Amino acid sequence: MNVILLGAPGAGKGTQATRLAEKYGIPHISTGDIFRENIKKQTPIGVVAKSYIDKGQLVPDEVTVEIVKQRLAMDDCKNGYLLDGFPRNTFQAEELDKFSTVEKVVDIDVDLTKLLKRITGRRVCVCGESFHVDFLNGKTTCDKCGSELYQRADDNEETVKNRLSVYQNQTAPLIEYYQKAGKLVLINGDQSIDKVFEDITKTLG
Ligand code: AP5
Ligand code: MG
Repeated sequence: MNVILLGAPGAGKGTQATRLAEKYGIPHISTGDIFRENIKKQTPIGVVAKSYIDKGQLVPDEVTVEIVKQRLAMDDCKNGYLLDGFPRNTFQAEELDKFSTVEKVVDIDVDLTKLLKRITGRRVCVCGESFHVDFLNGKTTCDKCGSELYQRADDNEETVKNRLSVYQNQTAPLIEYYQKAGKLVLINGDQSIDKVFEDITKTLG
């Protein structure tokens, strides 16, 4: 089961991918998470990635494609994978087609005007869970593991606006790309997290 989760920043790709990976026993591969891990460890890739992520721009293709190519070649991807945040433009999609065969592309669709609030209110945990301040009732620790929650560096209003416009200009054309390939499944992402999960699992089987 080789699946891509497509969707704008804040659409719920990470939230759903965590749950889907658990259900299907396949790895959740988020290029954003890989970059953040590299930034934390101050690797050469991290240094390059940070300068783009802080501005809400895409990290250059030559860096990103190579990371994904190497990751998908690893043993745990043999029975499938969930790609979250890759591909993000037509070039990346074409490159992916050269080294792997994607079966389904799940597009989590949410009206872009609702996403600014979702993202600026997001609080994340080192364990991978994410929450929204509106539902935390003042709590500052993770329900799952108890660690202190924090806000992502790129979740401020100015950067989010850039991320949304990059999505519109560069990533949204992939909807048509995968529609033409007969791989696209459209999911209404403006429903409860559980309902979105239910709809996705129905289409994945
Ligand atoms: P990345 O980490 O991929 O960020 P993103 O695409 O901007 O997406 P997010 O992680 O913000 O949103 P999400 O869809 O995962 O939403 P979530 O589930 O957390 O990328 C970051 C940066 O890295 C990019 O800007 C770029 O610079 C670089 N990068 C990454 N991949 C790249 C690539 N391929 N090429 C080049 N550069 C790349 O949910 C968001 C919030 O909403 C949470 O608070 C959550 O609790 C809440 N929520 C989730 N679902 C629901 C729901 N159904 N109802 C209500 N609230 C919900
Ligand atoms: Mg995410």
